[in-house]
Amino acid sequence: MNAVRPLVAVYPGSFDPITRGHEDIARRCLRIADEVIVAVAHTATQKKSALFDVHERVSMIDTVFADEPRIRCASFEGLLVDYCRDAGAHLVIRGLRAVSDFEYEFQMAQMNQELWSELETVFLTPDVNYSFLSASLVREVARLGGDVSAFVSPSVLNKLDVAFGNRG
Ligand code: PNS
Repeated sequence: MNAVRPLVAVYPGSFDPITRGHEDIARRCLRIADEVIVAVAHTATQKKSALFDVHERVSMIDTVFADEPRIRCASFEGLLVDYCRDAGAHLVIRGLRAVSDFEYEFQMAQMNQELWSELETVFLTPDVNYSFLSASLVREVARLGGDVSAFVSPSVLNKLDVAFGNRG
């Protein structure tokens, strides 16, 4: 009898911090993969100034998915394709919110395919309630004292409050 290997998907990103939209995509991944690795990149293609360091982001993601044993979090340095190859994952998941995401996502997917032809990128759309949501907007709204409680998990909200001194 052949042992069937679990289908592992990598969901990479900056996740600074993880939003409800990211959460939604990661949970949707479980409909097509047996296991999902939420992979926090040390090197992002689009340069952004980080709010949380990679270790903090991984710890927040671990807390958010504490209820789901099929989702785990890791960080990686270097190329995504190398990380996927080492992890035995031939599937990358990315969220696609709007047409504006398309060019950047399409370029990355094709470059990754050039770098490792055994890697497939699958795009998932988030729940319509999260189609406007991005980590950079969450950071900006939280920095300016706005209410982001609908956009992130309570544990992430706590970290944002601490980071921006928004409490008490
Ligand atoms: O959430 P982001 O910042 O849009 O995620 C982009 C990410 C981290 C997936 C991308 O920058 C990436 O894969 N970085 C790892 C380095 C790499 O492989 N670069 C070449 C991408 S074609």
